[in-house]
Formats: sequence, C-alpha cells, structure tokens
Amino acid sequence: MYYPDEIVEEVRQRNDIVDVISSYVRLNKKGSNYFGLCPFHNEKTGSFSVTPSKQMYYCFGCGKGGNVITFIQDYENMTFTEAVRMLADRAGMTLPETRSDEARERENKRAQLLAVNREAGKYYYAQLRSPAGERGLEYFRKRGLSDETMQRFGLGFARSSRDETFRYLKSKGFSDEVLRESGLFNHRENQGMTDKFWNRVIFPIMDTGQRIIGFGGRVMGDGEPKYLNSPETPVFDKSRNLYGLNIAKSTKAKNMIICEGYMDVIALHQAGFDQAVASLGTAFTSGHANLIARYAKENVRPGEIARYKDILLCYDSDGAGVEAAKRALTTLRTAGLSAKVIDMKPYKDPDEFIKNLGAEEFAKRIENAENGFMYEIRQLESEYDLKDPSKKSRFITDVATRLLRFEDPVERDGYAGNIAYKYDVSPDSLNEVIRKQAVEMGGITIAPKPMPTRGEKGSLDDATRLPQSRLLSWICDAPEVYGIVSRYISADDFSDPLYRKVATILFDQLDNDRFDPANVVSMFTEEEEQRQIAEAFHQNIGHLESVQMRENALKDLMLNVKRLSLMRDDRKDNDFNRIITIRKELEELERAHISLGDNE
Ligand code: UTP
Ligand code: MN
Repeated sequence: MYYPDEIVEEVRQRNDIVDVISSYVRLNKKGSNYFGLCPFHNEKTGSFSVTPSKQMYYCFGCGKGGNVITFIQDYENMTFTEAVRMLADRAGMTLPETRSDEARERENKRAQLLAVNREAGKYYYAQLRSPAGERGLEYFRKRGLSDETMQRFGLGFARSSRDETFRYLKSKGFSDEVLRESGLFNHRENQGMTDKFWNRVIFPIMDTGQRIIGFGGRVMGDGEPKYLNSPETPVFDKSRNLYGLNIAKSTKAKNMIICEGYMDVIALHQAGFDQAVASLGTAFTSGHANLIARYAKENVRPGEIARYKDILLCYDSDGAGVEAAKRALTTLRTAGLSAKVIDMKPYKDPDEFIKNLGAEEFAKRIENAENGFMYEIRQLESEYDLKDPSKKSRFITDVATRLLRFEDPVERDGYAGNIAYKYDVSPDSLNEVIRKQAVEMGGITIAPKPMPTRGEKGSLDDATRLPQSRLLSWICDAPEVYGIVSRYISADDFSDPLYRKVATILFDQLDNDRFDPANVVSMFTEEEEQRQIAEAFHQNIGHLESVQMRENALKDLMLNVKRLSLMRDDRKDNDFNRIITIRKELEELERAHISLGDNE
C-alpha cells in the first residue's frame, strides 16, 4: 500500500501535532513550546517537548523524536500506512483507494472477521456475568482471579448450547461464510453450524492493537481437551502473536517474561508482573522471537547500540517444559537475543508458584534467573556421567562446540571461565579443546571479530556532529537567520552524510519559502534517521543575552561547520576545485561581520 507524497503531506498538515499529542500526553505550555511526561520512557520530570512551529516532538531524556506520523507509529505501534490512515480518519479525509480489488477484498474479509470476534467476545463476556455464567465465575474465583483481573483480560463464558452463539451472531448480520471462516463454529454435513466453544470458560486473545483475533476455552475441571483454541484464520496467526502482549507491551518493567499458558500470564499480571506473555498453545517460533525483540528493545539515544530488556523464560518445571525452554533459547538466540531461565521448582508453573509462595518470592526467582547458556549446559550435563573421565571429556568437547557459537571473544572467554570453574577443568585445557573443535568444525576462525562499531552515524557527543546539528537547530528555531547563513554555508558543507541530506531538503524549502521541518522528517523512512533528525532539530542553543553574543555564537558555528567541510573525507583529493572554493569561503567567513540586528 502506497500513498503519494502530496497525500501524506496533506494528512500531516491537517493534523496539528499539539492537538494529536495532547490526546495521549498531558502537555503544558512553556514559552512557545509544550512539555509533558515522555510516553516512550519512564520519567518523573517532563523532558518531552512538542514544538508547534516545527510541528515536531522531541524527548530530551530518551532522544525519541519526529513528526505527527512517527509519533502515531511509535505510540500506537502502527506501520507508516496505518498511521497515515488513522490520521486521515481523524482529520475527516477520505484517502484515495489505490489498492487492488483483491487486496481490498482481503482487507474487507479481515475487518469482518475481527468484527465477528469482537461481537463473540462481548457475548462471552456478558454470559460470564449473567446467571448462566455462574459456574464460570465460580471457576475463575476458585482459581484466585479477582473481578478486576477477569475484566482486564476480558474473560468470558460459553454456556452449553448447540448453536446459540451462532444464532446470536447471525442476528448481528454476519454471513454464513464469514462465520464459517471465523473458526468459532463446527460445520458438519446435515448439521449446519454448531458452536465450537460450549461449557467452557473463555480467554479472548488480542493482538497488540487490542483487537480480538481468537479465543481459548478451558474445561472447568477435568476433561479433554483441556484447552480448545480458535484455529488459525486470516486474522489469527499463532506464530506471530503472544498472549498478554497487548498489555505487556506497555510495561515499565525492566524485563519480559515468557511463559507457557493463559493462566500463567493472568496469574503473573494479577501479582503485578504485567510484563508476562505466553505463546498460544504452540511452540515458541522465530515470529515470536521477533515480536519479543521489538518490544524488549529499550529506547536508546540515537547512535547508541541497541539494548534489550532481560528476556526471562518461565516454563513449566516438568520435562516437557525443560525441552520447550531449550528450544526457545535456541530460537531466541537465532534472532540475536539471549535469555535467562526462571526456576519454578518445586512448583509446576508460575500460576501455582505464585499461589503458594506469592509475588515477593517470585521476584526473587527473577533476580536469581539462570543465564540461558549455563542453563543449557546444566541440562546437557545430565546426559553424561561426569564421574567417568572419558565421558567427561566428551561432555567438555560438546560444551566447547557450544562455546564456539559466541562470536564475541570476550563473552566466550567469560563463559569458558565459568565452565572451567564449575566443571573443574583447567582454563588452558578448555581453551585447547575449544581450539581443536574450531578446527574440527571446518576452519571456523576464533580470531576476534571486530566489536560492533557505532557506524558512520556516530553519536552526538561526537565533536564533529555537534556544530552541524546546532546550526540546523538554530535555523529551525529562527528561520530568519537563513538569509545570513546561506551567504556562507551550503548544504554541501555538512560533512555528516545524514545532516547533508537534511540540509539539502531544509535549505531548498527555505529558498522556496516553504519552511517545514516536520516535512523533512517525512522524507526519511528509517526510524533511526527520523530520530536523529528530530534530535538535530532540537539542540539547545542556549540562552544568549545580547545580540552580539548571538552573532559571535552563530559565526563560530558556521566557522566550525565550514572547517569540517574542508575535512570531509569523501572529497579529499578528487574535488580539488571545490576545496579551493571552500578555503576562500572560509577566509571570507573569518573576516565577515555577522549582523543579526535586522534579522531578529
Ligand atoms: P498446560 O497444560 O501447562 O496448562 O498448558 P496450564 O496453562 O497450566 O493450564 P491450567 O493452569 O491447568 O489451566 C499450557 C498451555 O498450552 C496450551 C494452552 O495455551 C495452555 O495455556 N494448551 C494446553 C492447549 O492449547 N491445549 C491443551 O489441551 C492444553
Ligand atoms: Mn497451570
């Protein structure tokens, strides 16, 4: 799906950023800006600013920033297209249909399936709270759930009936075809459609947009199957959704907990661990790992290396749980994530653990969670008889093979040290085995890999980027200085590649009387770039008392940018004429008297 730039621009212009953000964040006016508590990180002082003149937001605390569209993308966790559509709706605009008929048809089907689920969810919810639902309510209460918890998770009840739910939804106007596809009904020859869920308590499953995409239903007591789940449908992809993530996505906790079951998630949330999620009666997939990666990612300052919350596995303590945890560790590792494992012993699962030992004890188990690699090795241990030296040797070889998975030599050495200590092997012997294994495994080198660098984007503390971003900020704050700046500085002078692109767009706007910083953000699609631009536009110029101080400061900034321009790596030798010109411009600027008097 693709909307032309003019449309996107119009959507943006019809949605004032202060209006939009005010409906999410309480903003207070200070001078010409608005401030509030940043919705993207946990803070007590308002470092989150919204600037009407720029139509941009920026958090001085966590570095998030952008325009009204990126705000909606981030806050609502939407794609660009979804955000544009939502803002268009908000402004009462109808967007042109450019989708193919087929795509439209599919979208329409999805919308109808979601509507069926919403109605069914409401129906089950109401039943639980009606006389017919008494047994369900009693069941949940017996399992220790408070009314508030039941409400938060939208829990419901399906009473014994052949086709009541079906008939109810029919009466709401849904077609047989859509109801069949919803997965909520069984369809047999000559029998028509019958309710799939009956005489069960109901767990609606929501996606991160708070839409019901499927259901789980549990028997109240013993019976098979214990849980019945909606099948996969066009709106229910089990390997791309996690139960509880609709709530856990906004947790303030410093970790994410992955567990096995509906009741585990609910019990954890009720005990205050609102960071818990579960896969939906299926194995933990790479789709799940990617979801976790997205929501466990911490807000870092632009240019910094990504950081993740601790990812904690809290699987059942039986054999199946251990196997599932080992597989999940592998899946997470493949997605570039490491995890720890929480021990639930002597209880079966977090639900039972909390019921018996309470939230405080659980918090201790979080504290003591075992490193995923060490957990794996400990499980491996049980396959070998370590009292037998030859078996122990095989075990150590097996461990060495696993150690080779770590590309970072520092990390590998750290683990090797732990292993040597724990299993009483000398570090030298262990290293010897590792080396041998490396050769064995087909010449995988264990030469140190370069540590990840910050890349060309660098960080803003970087002395070379600061003057450039300050100059951009100054122009955004007071576009009237552009008249002076443009006499000496051109976009080409910005040595930082991203700033150069930004300056090109911004200067072109100013040359054509179309100054619009938020529009510059729209020209970039990478979230990281958008953030860096917002940051560049929000540098603190400081409060300079006199006109003369401001003139000097501006001249200094321009001189700095100009000198950096001379040193631009990518033009060292081959652009000789340009270098001569810049030298001349630099000398001219050094002699120039900058006068802001008329321009302010
Ligand atoms: P468990 O059997 O561990 O159940 O299944 P549980 O979560 O402890 O459930 P309670 O406490 O007895 O109510 C873990 C998860 O596996 C899926 C469900 O998602 C369940 O929450 N499952 C289990 C099924 O889909 N079908 C089943 O028959 C059993
Ligand atoms: Mn359980």
